[in-house]
Amino acid sequence: MRVAVIAGNCKMNTTVSEAIQLVNEMRQGLDEIDSVDKVICPPFISLATVKELIKGSSIKLGAQNIYFEEKGAYTGEISPLMLADLCEFVIIGHSERRHYFNESGEIVNKKIQAALKVGLKPILCIGERLEENETGRTEEVVAEQLRSSLAGIDYLGGLVIAYEPVWAIGTGKAATGEWANETIGFIRRNISQKYGKRVTQDLRILYGGSVTADNTAEFINQPEIDGALVGGASLKASQFLSIVKQTSEIKQVR
Ligand code: PGA
Repeated sequence: MRVAVIAGNCKMNTTVSEAIQLVNEMRQGLDEIDSVDKVICPPFISLATVKELIKGSSIKLGAQNIYFEEKGAYTGEISPLMLADLCEFVIIGHSERRHYFNESGEIVNKKIQAALKVGLKPILCIGERLEENETGRTEEVVAEQLRSSLAGIDYLGGLVIAYEPVWAIGTGKAATGEWANETIGFIRRNISQKYGKRVTQDLRILYGGSVTADNTAEFINQPEIDGALVGGASLKASQFLSIVKQTSEIKQVR
C-alpha cells in the first residue's frame, strides 16, 4: 500500500510573514488528516521558520531546489547537507527550473544523487511540453527524462516522481485523470524495467498541473496516481486543505 502524497509548491511566492500566516491557517486542519503525507514546500528563506511552526505535527517540509555540491564557494546556492538538516523532501527538476534556469538532465541527475546521498527524498518532476504532447511524443519524452535523471542510480531511496505536463502547469488547463493515469502507468512500467517490480510497487508517482479542490477527485480516483504536486492552489489554505482531505477520503475507501 502506497501512502498518498500531497505536496504544496509555493514557488517564488510568500514572504516569510506570509508563509507564517499560510501555515498557521492550515496547520491544525492538515494535522488532523491522516493517511496522506502532507508536504509544504515554501521558499528557502522560510524553511527554518516553518519547521518550527509545524514541530510536533504530522506535516512534512520540502524544499523547491538544491545544489549538488556539499559545500564551498558557490555563492547563493543551498547544499544537500543544509537541507537535510531542515526538511525531508526536495523538489528536483521542476519544469520551471529546466526551462528558465537551463537545468539539463545531467544537472537533475547530479541533484538527485546529492539528495539521496544525505537521505533527502527527491520529488523528481518530469513532463512533456505542449508541442511534444500534440505530436504524440509524450512517452518518448518522459522515458528520456527518466533515463537521464536516474542514470547511474541503483537505489531510489524515498524518491517520489511527479508527472507534470508542462502545458498544464499554471495554465488552469489540467490534464484529464485518464491521460495522467495512463502516462503514470507508463512511467511505472518504465521504472519497473530498470529497478524491478518490488521497488516499483512502493514508488509513489504524483500528478501535477493545475490541480485544484474542484478536480482533485478526478486524479486521486485513478489507480496509478498516488497524489499531487500542487502549485497555485497550495497558496490558499482552504483549497489546499480540501485537496488533502479529499485525497485522504478517497484513498481510505480504496
Ligand atoms: P500549478 O503548479 O498547480 O500552479 O499548475 C504545479 C507545479 O508547478 O508543481
